[in-house]
Amino acid sequence: MFDLDQWPLHQLVLRTPRLELRPDDDAGLAELASVARKGVHPPEQMPFAFPWTDADPDELGRNLVQYHWSMRAALNPRDWTVQFLIRVDGQVIGCQGLTATNFALSREVSSGSWLGMDWQGQGYGTEMRAAVLMFAFDHLGARTARSGAFLDNASSRRVSEKVGYRADGTETWIRRGAVATQTRLLLDAGDLRRPDWSLSVSGLDACRSLLGA
Ligand SMILES: CC(C)(COP(=O)(O)OP(=O)(O)OC[C@H]1O[C@@H](n2cnc3c(N)ncnc32)[C@H](O)[C@@H]1OP(=O)(O)O)[C@@H](O)C(=O)NCCC(=O)NCCS
Repeated sequence: MFDLDQWPLHQLVLRTPRLELRPDDDAGLAELASVARKGVHPPEQMPFAFPWTDADPDELGRNLVQYHWSMRAALNPRDWTVQFLIRVDGQVIGCQGLTATNFALSREVSSGSWLGMDWQGQGYGTEMRAAVLMFAFDHLGARTARSGAFLDNASSRRVSEKVGYRADGTETWIRRGAVATQTRLLLDAGDLRRPDWSLSVSGLDACRSLLGA
């Protein structure tokens, strides 16, 4: 019989000085949905291209877990997204996604993230982004990383700037029915501004083939 604990991503854990990052599990997703329902951004702002936080609270929780399940179900060695749940002292505070398309050839990842509002502005966003970048560059062999942020998302743009991304043009999106500009951001492995701590990674050997690494 297949034991669900054999799902390779169950073994994977990244640790920073303050954070634990683990691929999502159902109990953690329930916690994540509660965090999202308490608020991710002020209602007049919209940091996401797809305005998932505009859903009413019941739908928001259901949509969130279903979205994460869809990422897990679609994961394969060529194209994958790993959604890391971010925990502080065992409590889920947000998530950090890492995506690759045709990773064996592209050696490129992209990322997206959010934290509950109570947890923003304390350096966690920078710490978790640095964690997945070091994981991608140092442990998976990625060469470049991409990200993007709307021009009015100062905190996300600042996080990208702090870890070393450079501007790589713009994209036009329709956000809440109106035109909005996103900055494209690109980081070469050698340009990562490394923090003064090192990342601890465990359980990767079981996941390498699943991630095409
Ligand atoms: C984006 C996000 C993940 C960043 O995480 P965080 O923990 O708040 O970020 P940090 O505390 O590590 O860093 C934020 C930086 O932005 C700066 N900042 C915040 N608001 C700012 C503003 N209005 N103008 C200029 N700088 C601002 C902070 O001062 C800090 O920079 P510093 O360390 O140089 O002082 C988090 O704010 C979040 O979840 N926001 C809502 C969802 C979102 O925007 N997701 C990203 C979609 S692209």
